[in-house]
Amino acid sequence: MQVDGKHYRSIWTERVSGQVQPLVCIIDQTRLPHDFSVLEIQSLDAAVGAIFNMQVRGAPLIGAMAAFGVYLAMQVDASDSGLSAACEKLLQTRPTAVNLRWALDEVNRVLSLVKEQDRVSASLQFAEDLCMADIDMCASIGEHGLALIKTVYAKKPANGVVNILTHCNAGWLATVDWGTALAPIYKAQAAGISVHVWVDETRPRNQGAYLTTWELNNQGIAHTLIVDNAGGHLMQHGLVDMCIVGTDRTTRSGDVCNKIGTYLKALAAYDNGVPFYVAAPSPSIDWTIRDGLAEIPIEQRSRDEVAKLNGMNAQQKASLISIVPDHIQIRNDAFDTTPARLITGLITERGIADANETDLLALFPEQA
Ligand code: MRU
Repeated sequence: MQVDGKHYRSIWTERVSGQVQPLVCIIDQTRLPHDFSVLEIQSLDAAVGAIFNMQVRGAPLIGAMAAFGVYLAMQVDASDSGLSAACEKLLQTRPTAVNLRWALDEVNRVLSLVKEQDRVSASLQFAEDLCMADIDMCASIGEHGLALIKTVYAKKPANGVVNILTHCNAGWLATVDWGTALAPIYKAQAAGISVHVWVDETRPRNQGAYLTTWELNNQGIAHTLIVDNAGGHLMQHGLVDMCIVGTDRTTRSGDVCNKIGTYLKALAAYDNGVPFYVAAPSPSIDWTIRDGLAEIPIEQRSRDEVAKLNGMNAQQKASLISIVPDHIQIRNDAFDTTPARLITGLITERGIADANETDLLALFPEQA
């Protein structure tokens, strides 16, 4: 998507003269929205750090970064033990988003069929293909979601605006391009439909405030930042037509684990009769489990994310402030699970499914 009128992906490779292998580049998401900074990821450890420290984040992008992490590892040690050590290290970075495990399982499967001397080129090809597949999936999710937005738009008075609430960042920064939850919104804009997005700030890390507003602003889409607790109130007053959020892990029965606070939005939407959709590319579906509440590991993150806030001070200098004294006890669960019964539909790359096993399997019969 666009940054100052130039097309960017969230992760890409660059061939540089004098370097045998292409470099892996990312946008450092910990510096947005105040600073647009591109980073070269030059080693497995740098890839591990980028995922752990959330310079890259969002389930699909974590999977893509992991694939490139294996590519960087293969340049140093392409043996079987080098491969499994690299995968193990990457797998430990973030436990909730299943795309990480999916990408590592896939790259392992592909590389185990390839001779050691060919593993650098094969892993690069794998990572590039994964990125292209991710872009295609997100574009398809955008088209399927667009049909839903069109239906809402058709019921509006002339010159109406479709108001969509989203949580966290499930835009192009969280994927390779397009995004999942934001892809239908970008497609709606291209189709000439007026959309306005309510952006949950998404404490504690503020992905909504820092990243989603940045994306939407770059793309020229009307949006308003709201505090996390405002969504229910706006729904009660008829100001939200639909919710679209992303997912870090969806079970085969349609439970959705996503950024903390998603569940409360789904409850409010249910109570107010507001459709609640989840944009769910298939690599985010964990076909091995059914019970999201019992079976999905919830990442516990540092107290600093809750106790401190990042921002610009009056002198336009990046600064970190504490909002509570150090002795305050803090718990920081990064994700929650929304039960399938609260979800109106799952927007996958193959179409829209009701959030249940039968409907999901109708779209993905190979998982039966
Ligand atoms: O902790 P994050 O920023 O990686 O969490 C991201 C989310 O919860 C997204 O909604 C989810 O990964 C879907 S991204 C297309």
